[in-house]
Amino acid sequence: MSGKNWDRVPIDAQSVDAPLSLSAVFLVVTVASERNALARVASVLGGLDDLVKTVGFRDLSGRLSCIAGIGRDFWDRLSSGRRPLELKPFVPIKGAVHSAPSTAGDLLFHIRSERPDMCFEFERILLDNLGDAVTVVDEVSGFRYFDARDLLGFVDGTANPTGLDLPASALVGDEDADFAGGSYVVVQKYLHDLAAWARIPTPLQEVIIGRTKIDNIEIDDDDAPRKSHKSLATIVDADGNEYDILRDNMPFGRPGQREFGTYFIGYSRYLWVIEKMLQRMYVGDPPGAYDRLLDVSTPQTGTTFFAPTRPLLQALVEGVQQLPAAR
Ligand code: HEM
Repeated sequence: MSGKNWDRVPIDAQSVDAPLSLSAVFLVVTVASERNALARVASVLGGLDDLVKTVGFRDLSGRLSCIAGIGRDFWDRLSSGRRPLELKPFVPIKGAVHSAPSTAGDLLFHIRSERPDMCFEFERILLDNLGDAVTVVDEVSGFRYFDARDLLGFVDGTANPTGLDLPASALVGDEDADFAGGSYVVVQKYLHDLAAWARIPTPLQEVIIGRTKIDNIEIDDDDAPRKSHKSLATIVDADGNEYDILRDNMPFGRPGQREFGTYFIGYSRYLWVIEKMLQRMYVGDPPGAYDRLLDVSTPQTGTTFFAPTRPLLQALVEGVQQLPAAR
């Protein structure tokens, strides 16, 4: 990794490589069109780092962290300069059986902590500060489920890149030097049909996911008639290079409402890698052989953001603050 020591807390805002946590809040908002809404949001984004310290310092072992992601349209309001090369709104996907919608979002806040109350407190103050400059379009509180399992019962996150592979997979590099160190972020909120999943025998569930259920062993399905989720989500180029992404999915739910979900969040150096994963999952490889995980998982949202480094975020918001008020 970048040589960081996560025992040093509070954690800087915009640390994509902050540790996976026991709790997380995924907050997506749109920003009102008025000029003063833009100014207010810019000022809150400029104070994000201080807010992480304000809340995070109250229990350092809570390891609070926050990443703000910026959608394409809002990026253009914040900056008249260049934007990250691949940044664009989430492209909806239509497979023969399953499709993925594209939904609104100017800003994403990915708030992580070992303590749900710290995520809550951070979100509460953040939204207070943003006031009516924003409208909340989606808010999900995720939790760690036993040994990092999703609500389908499988361990989720094992193949995440670690060590030096993490920045190489998740952070933009020299290919777009002005935005180096930032990351493309894609989120999708999925709801599961757990009753339908329970009707699928465990051996078939394992074939669908590509790992065994109890002990999480990877299943080699190179010669299988149909690819698993794990294999459809593996992206290899013509030269045999594999492209990973950093995922920090979290289960969420309200059993009383029969709501059971997975909040998918992927950070990537290249947006095309996540797009290709989605294409393979929804359209299938070969086309038609889609990801059977989707038979029990329906996306409610789909939004793309770019999380700039902390200094770049600071520069963007300072640019807004220096604009004449009448603009
Ligand atoms: C309902 C939503 C989803 C669930 C429950 C889910 C669950 C899982 C599970 C259990 C694994 C195997 C363990 C692991 O390596 O993490 C996995 C692997 C993976 N998933 Fe998902 N996933 C979901 C959606 C997605 C989406 C939308 C993408 C990408 C756009 C994705 C990308 C990946 C990748 C890259 C891997 C690792 C593949 C490898 O072994 O290299 N997943 N997922």
